[in-house]
Amino acid sequence: MLKTGSKKELQAYLQELADCKKSRKDASVGLVPTMGALHDGHKALIKKSQELAKETIVSLFVNPLQFSQEEDFTIYPRNFTADFEFCQRLGVNFLFVPSIEDLYPVELEKQDSLTKVQPDRQLADCLCGKLRPRLFSGALTIVLKLLNLTKSDFVFFGEKDYQQLLLVQKMIADFELKSKLIGVKTVRDSSGLALSSRNSYLDFATREKALLLFETLQKSKKLAQERKIAFSEIKQLLEQENFEYFEARDNLTLELRQRPPFRIFIAARIAQVRLIDNILVE
Ligand code: PAF
Repeated sequence: MLKTGSKKELQAYLQELADCKKSRKDASVGLVPTMGALHDGHKALIKKSQELAKETIVSLFVNPLQFSQEEDFTIYPRNFTADFEFCQRLGVNFLFVPSIEDLYPVELEKQDSLTKVQPDRQLADCLCGKLRPRLFSGALTIVLKLLNLTKSDFVFFGEKDYQQLLLVQKMIADFELKSKLIGVKTVRDSSGLALSSRNSYLDFATREKALLLFETLQKSKKLAQERKIAFSEIKQLLEQENFEYFEARDNLTLELRQRPPFRIFIAARIAQVRLIDNILVE
């Protein structure tokens, strides 16, 4: 039976687990942090957690701290009933749904009185971090809070948000947190489109256009591996006006690279919907 609730219910559930631990039963915890609108990408994270940990907690919280004023916080897709049923079907143990007041006791307009994580600049100041200045400080702050609250042994992140994955990994190392980060491969639909909660904003026609991202990544990979041309040339051949970025960077440090191994990152606005994707080229 799936348990759910905010901080108080989470604490009661963790107390039960602590009692289990005393009787020497395995009570390792895996955390899958989400903003809801769950899809098969989240399912892959949950399945991985169930493989590695005894208990799986999914958190569902649309985190205001990581959105700028002009971004989609207010319209971000929210459907608690569907998300609850999704987790129940998959056998998740606890669905953590904190209220804003529970996590941020100060009014968000007075954000300056809130302690926030300052992400590693080399990893954060490019790609999505350059275009969305509040994104990573906000995301790392909430992830740190979630790791502390759930006391999780493992935390699961999808490679679609690869820059976020690297930044959380770095925060875990720098703050010496106990949680181990596990990265999970991007899940795609049958056409190749990377699954994302924001895909629900797309209609049939814009979904077709969104395929441009993965197609461009695949073509780039081919050009880099088979014709062995530098990324600057690939960019000249394939870049389109509506890409917000299209760059090849080191898989670990995110420094710009011309030749593989590298990871190619792409972002575009398709009918106002901001989509991102990436591919590893070895
Ligand atoms: O990737 C996301 O959905 C969010 O950035 C996260 C990690 C749940 C933090 O709000």
